[in-house]
Amino acid sequence: MEDNHTVMDTTLEQLVGSLKDTPGALLPILHRIQDQFGYVPDRALPIIAKALRCTTADVHGVISFYHHFRRSQPGRHLLEVCRAEACQARGAREFERHVKERLKIGFDQTTADGEFTLKAVYCLGNCATGPSLRQGDRVLSRMNPERFDKLVEDLTTYKLELK
Ligand code: FES
Repeated sequence: MEDNHTVMDTTLEQLVGSLKDTPGALLPILHRIQDQFGYVPDRALPIIAKALRCTTADVHGVISFYHHFRRSQPGRHLLEVCRAEACQARGAREFERHVKERLKIGFDQTTADGEFTLKAVYCLGNCATGPSLRQGDRVLSRMNPERFDKLVEDLTTYKLELK
């Protein structure tokens, strides 16, 4: 029976192999890997480096340059708080403080229960109605402590249906 690492390596090799000949292949490869696994695992670096005939340091440099890429498994819910100027003018600093206190984590960290990962972003294109927060595919407007607590509650509450 294949272990998880072997399965992951096989998937990585197939994925990298399918994109390695495209022009500027590194970024498309990194995006596909993150789409597939939710992050770019350490195991991917030598596979990418070998396919693209570069060093793992080269691959690491590109991953580090782009904040978009994650190096560790994210929580079940990714929460991205906007820290750019327009949101700051609308109270994002105070909102951010509440978010960190509520989750008991800082940016680029995941809660102990694996539920939430917190990331900083710099503009979500929702400037007029900040403070803004992206959760999954949706951008939420006019965030404040009460709305955030409700969001956390909704994402972590499993409702029992009584018949
Ligand atoms: S500054 Fe926050 S969405 Fe643009």
